[in-house]
Amino acid sequence: MDFSELIQIRQSVRAYQNRPVEREKLETLIESVRLAPSASNSQPWKLIIVDDPEIKDQVARATFSALISFNRFAPQAPVLAVLTIERPKLVTQIGARLKDREFSLIDIGIAAEHFCLQAAELGLGTCMLGWFDETAIHKVLAIPEKIRIGLVITLGYAAPGTPIRAKIRKNTKQMCSYNRY
Ligand SMILES: Cc1cc2nc3c(=O)[nH]c(=O)nc-3n(C[C@H](O)[C@H](O)[C@H](O)COP(=O)(O)O)c2cc1C
Repeated sequence: MDFSELIQIRQSVRAYQNRPVEREKLETLIESVRLAPSASNSQPWKLIIVDDPEIKDQVARATFSALISFNRFAPQAPVLAVLTIERPKLVTQIGARLKDREFSLIDIGIAAEHFCLQAAELGLGTCMLGWFDETAIHKVLAIPEKIRIGLVITLGYAAPGTPIRAKIRKNTKQMCSYNRY
């Protein structure tokens, strides 16, 4: 598969098969995050792979509530990947403060997309989840209080017959210009 095709088939998957993800594939996914670029090569993340069914269910249940129910599909995924935001190198911290930039958030986003594109190449579906009960996940996974959670990513084999949807996106004119804003 070439890269353009990979970008087309990567989509948020919100229905999964009850089928485990092979350990070898998990290791390839871990490597895809490990190799992600970051500001000053700070690599300000930790990746927690949650595949123990009981723990995974507790984390999944922290991604929705009776009121905010759009992540109700999360428990179907056999694996959840949790990306924490770790303290970057001192030089990156100083740079970020001087320039008022949130490098760590940019870094986490790139790492997450590495994970999702690699998953798509392996025939797996993902969905990044930005809405979750951070305190609850801290408790379940024993994440120290001061460490923020960047994203939770659902992972698994898409439900049979899941079509590749057309992408709903701004058109090129709306999102790109040459040589000036
Ligand atoms: C930072 C971030 C947070 C997201 N949070 C959620 C979420 O909580 N629940 C969800 O179902 N999708 C979530 N998404 C998925 C987006 O809705 C999705 O990427 C977007 O609609 C484009 O669709 P596609 O991924 O299928 O191309 C999130 C995506 C990103 C990048």
